[in-house]
Amino acid sequence: MQRFDYRDSLCTSHKVNTKLKSEGIVLINNMPCQNESLLNLAKHLGRVASSGIGEQRCNIEDQNIHRIEALESPLIDPFQYPIISTTNLDFELHTDDFCKPTPIDIVLLHCYRPATCGGESLFVDIDSIVTELSLSSLAILSSPSILTPFGWVPVIQKMEHQFIVRYNMYDILKVSTTSGYTYPQMTMHALNEFKQIAVRLCHQVRLASEDCLVLNNKKMLHGRNKFTRSSMRLLKRLRLYSF
Ligand SMILES: [Fe+2]
Repeated sequence: MQRFDYRDSLCTSHKVNTKLKSEGIVLINNMPCQNESLLNLAKHLGRVASSGIGEQRCNIEDQNIHRIEALESPLIDPFQYPIISTTNLDFELHTDDFCKPTPIDIVLLHCYRPATCGGESLFVDIDSIVTELSLSSLAILSSPSILTPFGWVPVIQKMEHQFIVRYNMYDILKVSTTSGYTYPQMTMHALNEFKQIAVRLCHQVRLASEDCLVLNNKKMLHGRNKFTRSSMRLLKRLRLYSF
């Protein structure tokens, strides 16, 4: 994973963009813990998105910056399920905006306070997963076989000779349960194979204060390990559409 220093990052923003496109992840160090840093970095990478902002705004700060921390009571999504990012639970590998017609391109996660125990960030790229996926599962997951609130979508797509991914098992099961749809056995098998490979191949990194993880949401799955609630872990997040 390529690391950049925030103090140089603005003059090397084209390098950050290039790495995001080719490798799907960048770590920026020494980024001062203030909202201005995140907004400053964002303006070199894309346009700020408002996705994930519902009626409950207690975790939202200025210009769509989300506080990612374990709340006393987790926020609830429109399906009446807990929003995992507002808990201290394991957050399985996923891409953001699974339920949206046009998912965002870039996720910025800026660490203010790491957890004292747990809370490591997890990531794995779609190219590695596809390399190990069976041809039958690749065929199923490349077809529009997965239900979202706006219709059927593929998990894996090939665009301009590159694989892109849309995947969130929590959301996939939530949508099927609430809509009363049962997946055929072969689709569940393909999804489970995908998940097992992702878990086996994933890397982890422990973010320190002033680290900012920058993820290409079309190439890289991300997640995090559970952490002790008393550690007061705090990240701030921005989601972007790339230019
Ligand atoms: Fe996420």
